[in-house]
Amino acid sequence: MSLALSPAEKAKFAAARRSVDFIEDGMRVGLGTGSTAAWMVRCLGERVRNEGLKVTGVATSDRTAEVAVSEGIRVVALEEAGWLDLTIDGADEFDADFNLVKGGGGALLREKIVATASDRMIVITDPAKEVAQLGAFPLPVEVIPFGWQASQALITELLEGMEVAGREITRRMAGDAPFVTDEGNLILDLHLKRIGNPRQLAMVLNQVPGIVENGLFIDICDVVIIGHANGRVDLRDMAAGVQSQEQVDMDNELNLFADLGD
Ligand code: A5P
Repeated sequence: MSLALSPAEKAKFAAARRSVDFIEDGMRVGLGTGSTAAWMVRCLGERVRNEGLKVTGVATSDRTAEVAVSEGIRVVALEEAGWLDLTIDGADEFDADFNLVKGGGGALLREKIVATASDRMIVITDPAKEVAQLGAFPLPVEVIPFGWQASQALITELLEGMEVAGREITRRMAGDAPFVTDEGNLILDLHLKRIGNPRQLAMVLNQVPGIVENGLFIDICDVVIIGHANGRVDLRDMAAGVQSQEQVDMDNELNLFADLGD
C-alpha cells in the first residue's frame, strides 16, 4: 500500500529522509519539532530498527519526545547529553543567509537551546519556506506569564524604532485558552510583515524584561535541505559553500510508512 500524501507533505518527507543520512552511529542528536521534524524522527526510527544505529536523541518538545520514544529512539534530557553532534529541525521561514524564523509550533525556546548546543544544525524544509526577506510569517516571542501585557507594551514601543512593515502583536491561543509552551510560558506573535534587520531585532527583543526568547535564529543554521514533492532534494551547506541536488526514492521509502495511512 502506498501512503497518500499532499505534495507539501511529500516534500517535507524527502527533506527529512535525506537529513537522517547525516546521522552516524554513536551521535547525540537534537530532534526538532513540527510536521517536517516528525518525519525526520520516523525516518531515524527506521534506521535505528533496521540498521541497529545507536543514537541518543534530545527532543525539543514533549510531543517530539513521545514520537521518538515510540520509534525506539533513546531520548535523554539535554542536561544528560551535554553537547550534541547535530540538530535537525524544521523552520517557518529561511533566507539566503540561513537566518530563520521558528516557533510556529511554539517550541522555539527549547529549539534554540538545543540547536545552539550542537556542533551543526540542519534545517529541513519544503520550498515554500524560502523567502527573500523574513517577516511574512508572524515572529513568535516567548514571554513569561507574569506581567505579559507589560512585556507586550515594551515590544510595541521598541518596534517603533525597528525596520519592520507591521507592528500588530497577538497572544497565541489554543482554542479559547492561551497557548502555553512546554516551559509554561506564553507566545506573542509579532505580525511584522517584513524584517529589515533580523540580527538587530533578535538582539533587541531579548533585552525586554519578561521575554525569554524570540524565534529569530541568526548564525545558527549550517545546512538547509529543501525537499520537493517528486523526491528531489536541494542541499545547501553554508560553511562549505556547496549546493547540490539529489534524489530520494519516494515510492520505496514511503512504503515503509504505509501503516501511517491506515
Ligand atoms: C516549532 O516550534 C517550529 O519551530 C517548527 O520547526 C516550524 O514551525 C516548522 O514546522 P513544520 O515543519 O510543521 O512546518
